[in-house]
Amino acid sequence: MAKQRIIAITGASGGLAQEIVKHLSPSDGIILLGRDKDKLEKCYRHVENKTCLAIDIRDDNAIKELVDYLYQRFGRIDVFINNAGFGEFKSYDNYTSQEVRDMFDINTFATMTFSRFMAEKMVEQGHGHIVNIASMAGKIATANSSVYAATKFAVIGFSDALRLE
Ligand SMILES: NC(=O)c1ccc[n+]([C@@H]2O[C@H](COP(=O)([O-])OP(=O)(O)OC[C@H]3O[C@@H](n4cnc5c(N)ncnc54)[C@H](OP(=O)(O)O)[C@@H]3O)[C@@H](O)[C@H]2O)c1
Repeated sequence: MAKQRIIAITGASGGLAQEIVKHLSPSDGIILLGRDKDKLEKCYRHVENKTCLAIDIRDDNAIKELVDYLYQRFGRIDVFINNAGFGEFKSYDNYTSQEVRDMFDINTFATMTFSRFMAEKMVEQGHGHIVNIASMAGKIATANSSVYAATKFAVIGFSDALRLE
């Protein structure tokens, strides 16, 4: 039987997360992270070996506490997928500063914060993968994607540097 992997994913109620989970082994332990635990339980009622947890990923302290809790409970995480993210598409002059910050909080800063706390633990455990979901918008910018593209260019630059470290 395949060795059980412990795999965690943020933004787990979303379309891409649900597709990713379909491709995991039934023996994997899957940690589904999102804003709404009940929604996660409903989306994944057919999935065994799952744990659904609610978290506000804008809060660095909540992320730190969650990572500590996951290690207490599961002992290790083999794969962590930073998937939560959203886009809004409109001309840059129609954005407020708050809207820009909100998109960076979810798409970029939460990814960076999870990566930092997870990488510390993975170095201690001696293995692990962090997967950061970016976008083609992080490679090619188009009109009306200024803020989304900026958040995803940042994710790709950050991830490339982290990989080298
Ligand atoms: N769809 C595409 O065409 C496409 C293309 C390239 C890249 N991507 C990227 O792929 C990832 C997944 O996208 P998707 O297509 O699966 O989108 P989706 O169906 O809208 O799901 C994204 C998930 O991210 C979380 N999220 C969204 N806004 C949030 C907020 N303000 N605060 C906290 N969490 C929030 C939500 O999860 P919870 O409700 O569980 O918290 C949501 O279900 C994103 O990073 C996206 O940028 C998508």
